[in-house]
Amino acid sequence: MNQWDAVIVGAGAAGLFCAGVASQRGLKVLVIDHSRVVAEKVRISGGGRCNFTNKNLDPSAPQKHFISQNPHFCRSALSRYTPQDFIALVQKHGIAFHEKHKGQLFCDHSAEDIIRMLLAECEAGGVTLRTDCSVSAVRHLEDGRYALNTAQGEVLTRSVVVATGGLSIPKIGATGWGYEVATQFGLRLVECRPGLVPLTFDGEGWAPYAQLAGLALPVGIATGEKKSRMHFDEDLLFTHRGLSGPGVLQISSYWQDGTPIRLNLAPEVDLPARLQEAKLRSRKLLGNELATLVPARLAEAWVGQNPALQRPCPDVPDKALTQLAEALSNWSLTPTGSEGYKKAEVTLGGVDTRDLSSQTMESRQPGLYFIGEVIDVTGWLGGYNFQWAWASAHACAQAL
Ligand code: FDA
Repeated sequence: MNQWDAVIVGAGAAGLFCAGVASQRGLKVLVIDHSRVVAEKVRISGGGRCNFTNKNLDPSAPQKHFISQNPHFCRSALSRYTPQDFIALVQKHGIAFHEKHKGQLFCDHSAEDIIRMLLAECEAGGVTLRTDCSVSAVRHLEDGRYALNTAQGEVLTRSVVVATGGLSIPKIGATGWGYEVATQFGLRLVECRPGLVPLTFDGEGWAPYAQLAGLALPVGIATGEKKSRMHFDEDLLFTHRGLSGPGVLQISSYWQDGTPIRLNLAPEVDLPARLQEAKLRSRKLLGNELATLVPARLAEAWVGQNPALQRPCPDVPDKALTQLAEALSNWSLTPTGSEGYKKAEVTLGGVDTRDLSSQTMESRQPGLYFIGEVIDVTGWLGGYNFQWAWASAHACAQAL
């Protein structure tokens, strides 16, 4: 009874999808998860609507949307199982969806639709699912099979698929189990850190901006120098402890500790020209004119820091106007840290791709596979991480 063709540890996005595909190829598949509820991250993803893929993904240029020590590693899997393939599956299950922006596809109703679809695909192949079941040890036997000690007894299998994801959001079941198994079998790891995460700022320097918590606005945001410079045009959200919103989450995956980020808080306005023009035309307080160019709360916070700006427009010195335009359109600030795994959407780093086959996701240890976020492949915000989960799972399922 407890002999399997494949045992998949982790009933998340990648694990369930892999189980469905492999079982429908005729394999006897067991999926084990230590949580009571499967696919919790799918459930909370995309604000509860699951941004399940991105139409703009270009498998021939994965470095555009994926971060990895070897950005080409994911090319093969992503080009063999594309967003269009997953969209076809979603359509086959009659799930209504829409494009939000920049190619991001979301369920119309609920992320539960995707979970139901994954479970239906597992059921179609006769997958056995054991939840609330932890795995305490994995042993490679002399006959080539693996033995797993689980809370529900020992299981034997030809292949083990590690689909335990990354470290983000430990309170819904994230663990470093996958990394421990990789280390046990001598595979290398790329150091992990939180990605797609809000950035924080401590101390007095942040005090004038803390009052802006809740304010959202479109910005240009950048980090890095010259060749390594990354830039996004996305929304920014001020929080009590720092900055969040899609723009900040994207840049956080590229941001290095101790380095600055640069913000253009008025990307669609020629601020130096508009402020000079206001000085010539208007007798109002500068703060009031500025509030027509950027959100009023932002204008207030900036003007409030400098008495030279708290005057009618004609009385504001040219130098102060130039400095204001520069400060708003090229605001350089150095985060003191991030909100960490507690709030991160993903984990950067993971199982080193040098020890994995890009065709099958099998590791140097025969019969031991890794799929999804546990691998050192991290996508941008916008459905790219799920597409990696589906594509790596599909590549693995073909090879089991
Ligand atoms: P996933 O985390 O989905 O699954 C891992 C499974 O392994 C879990 O069920 C866990 O319980 C189990 N597990 C862990 N340790 C175990 C152990 N020791 N023993 C047994 N089981 C164990 N991406 C995207 O493309 N679009 C989006 O809209 C979002 N939105 C989003 C929102 C939020 C709040 C978060 C935190 C993340 C996202 N993501 C996202 C990222 C996306 O959720 C993530 O990249 C995928 O779920 C990764 O899929 P995996 O299957 O690799 O791991």
